[in-house]
Amino acid sequence: MSTRVLVVDDNAAFAENLDEILADAGYQVTVAPSCAAARSAAGRGFDIALVDMRLPDGLGTDLAGELRQHHPDAVVVLLTGYSTVEAAAAAVRAGVFAYLSKPCATDDLLLTLEQARRHVKLQLDKRELQRRALTSEKLAAVGTMTAGLSHEIRNPLNAAGLQLQVLERRIDKLDPALRPPLLEPLTLVRDEIRRLDHLLEDFLQLARPRELVSRPVDLSELAGRVLDLLARDAERRGVTLERHLAQVPPVAGDDGRLRQVVMNLALNALEASSRGKVTMTVAAPTGAGTVVLIVDDTGPGVPPELRERIFEPFFTTKAQGTGLGLAIVHGIVAQHGGTLTVSSAPGGGARFTLELSAAPRS
Ligand SMILES: Nc1ncnc2c1ncn2[C@@H]1O[C@H](COP(=O)(O)OP(=O)(O)O)[C@@H](O)[C@H]1O
Ligand SMILES: [Mg+2]
Repeated sequence: MSTRVLVVDDNAAFAENLDEILADAGYQVTVAPSCAAARSAAGRGFDIALVDMRLPDGLGTDLAGELRQHHPDAVVVLLTGYSTVEAAAAAVRAGVFAYLSKPCATDDLLLTLEQARRHVKLQLDKRELQRRALTSEKLAAVGTMTAGLSHEIRNPLNAAGLQLQVLERRIDKLDPALRPPLLEPLTLVRDEIRRLDHLLEDFLQLARPRELVSRPVDLSELAGRVLDLLARDAERRGVTLERHLAQVPPVAGDDGRLRQVVMNLALNALEASSRGKVTMTVAAPTGAGTVVLIVDDTGPGVPPELRERIFEPFFTTKAQGTGLGLAIVHGIVAQHGGTLTVSSAPGGGARFTLELSAAPRS
């Protein structure tokens, strides 16, 4: 993305000249002739502000301080007609990145802007690193706690599941007319247990990602298994499951973990498209040496501004969400050296595309 420069100067001829020079140098320029105009333009985002010292409705230094405060990731370069010690001191106090006196040579201006651009980028990179460090801290804390807890919960949950099977067998022996009202709540409980079990698996996966056990995996077959498991869930939500599973070469991967990837993607699609349709497609594009799995749904889709955030641990827009599903998916896909992208499905819903390398022929 090109760097956005906000030129704040009431001298129209000068601003126009700057606009031309900067646009030629690849910057995206917005011109504001006053402090008020600058404030509203700044709200739409900028990376570097080039601010004249004397503006019709205020001082450049005051505006610079204000912009710095509201846009800590951006920098301000101050321009002035008079270079006095006082002006320089005011500029420093306002926290500006650089100070140029007018008229300034184009080369000087471009050099200063290039330095400012690098500074902005460094700041952003630093922030991104901090964000990632915070995320792994969060994960580590959750990890230690859940590893123990999950096992404690899993055992009774398994026991409950087994008792449910006993109950189901006994009901099967009853008079057929008596069965439906007994089986219905039983099915619900079983689905809930499965959901809990799935949740625990997510937590355990986050807590201690295991070493990858790599074997040839048939993604079409795996996708089929996941869809079969979800059939009842889909029926309950009134969602049609559609499958286009071509014969594809195997990928090298961990069956259990890839199943978790496909399961999490499919569950999200199901949750998003009540009374709609979820389509799973597996194909091997000719000559690409990869296998592609696509999950399309007819839900509301993922707005472009959220497309990166949805992979962050704990990011969720659901009242009952954990925000772990896609974080786990992302981790597993990275572990497999694959890629996962989100876009819009042809029908307007979400499309998640997983791409993995086909296993080398042995
Ligand atoms: N198929 C989809 N359609 C629309 N939004 C989705 C879809 N899949 C994921 N999302 C968005 O990504 C968020 C994170 O998903 P996820 O990590 O699985 O956590 P959770 O499902 O617990 O919210 C969801 O809350 C939702 O906002
Ligand atoms: Mg989810």
